[in-house]
Amino acid sequence: MYVLGIETSCDETSAAIVKDGSRVFSNVVSSSIKFHKKYGGIIPEIASRMQLETIVQVADSAVEESGIKLKDIGLVSVTSSPGLPGSLLVGISFAKAAAFSLSLPLLAVDHIHAHIYASALDRKPIQLPFIALVVSGGHTSLFFVKAFDDIRPLGATQDDACGEAFDKVAKILGLGYPGGPVIEQLAKKGDPKKIKFRCSGTDGLLDFSFSGIKTAVLYYVKAHKALSRQDVSDVAASFQEAVTETLIEKALLACRIKKAARLVIGGGVAANGYLREKFFKAARSRKVSLHFPSGQLCMDNAAMVAGLGFQLFKKGHRSALDF
Ligand code: KG4
Ligand code: ZN
Repeated sequence: MYVLGIETSCDETSAAIVKDGSRVFSNVVSSSIKFHKKYGGIIPEIASRMQLETIVQVADSAVEESGIKLKDIGLVSVTSSPGLPGSLLVGISFAKAAAFSLSLPLLAVDHIHAHIYASALDRKPIQLPFIALVVSGGHTSLFFVKAFDDIRPLGATQDDACGEAFDKVAKILGLGYPGGPVIEQLAKKGDPKKIKFRCSGTDGLLDFSFSGIKTAVLYYVKAHKALSRQDVSDVAASFQEAVTETLIEKALLACRIKKAARLVIGGGVAANGYLREKFFKAARSRKVSLHFPSGQLCMDNAAMVAGLGFQLFKKGHRSALDF
């Protein structure tokens, strides 16, 4: 079955065609990031207006690039939450109209669950159950995935999301938006052991907190007024090191608690090469099999929404046009 996926939860407008929940035939992503850069973060009204302008074209391109015909599509799957309300509304309205006009079934999909599913695209299925860690600009959560319609939360951030912390630290260091990729690049030239940053503790063993470390970076920068380029790289590397260590520690702890032998990671921060390398080393030593999506599938995209939609459809799930 060919599934048309639609994703508009943040600033991206994305449409994809995925066959049988795994083979990606097309995955078109249009980002409005350049319109937000000067504000240092996403402006919801700008994002949703750009999505309204581009959604039809993006969906057309996805169908065209896939090489299939509209009549070959068997299902429309769309991100329904969480996300920016105005942005979600654009994708949902488009998906409903497409499903209605093509007389197709419709499926509403959770955006965070779709990030977990990204690792299952264009490769062999991952054996269930597994632990999933989603690290994005809006979320940092651990889950026990028994099935794709039985995803149980184990822990989550108590304040900032992990990607949000990368973005805010980049802003403090005057590096622009989005912060993750810039911090990763600068950190390559820095010493990760130079400054002892730590993520704050949480009451729940599997919860996270990133607001304290962000403030620690702010105080460090204020206390050391004239930071050289090398100092900035050291701050970036030391921050990235502390965050990576916390993510690894908690994700592997979750595996131990739930006696899970597999760990799946998704979300924008999972594109970070340093984090991926350290995760692989740690997982190998604990004999946990680790799965990351390809770099592009870590970011918001509609292929993960189409893929998860197919799995839920197979299990009998449907959404009404008035969801
Ligand atoms: O999953 P995503 O595209 O959107 C949300 O659902 O939030 O994640 C975007 C987040 C941003 O905070 C961005 O700074 C972060 O992912 N990010 C990274 C990297 N690339 C993107 N963080 C660390 N290292 C990266 N290479
Ligand atoms: Zn996302």
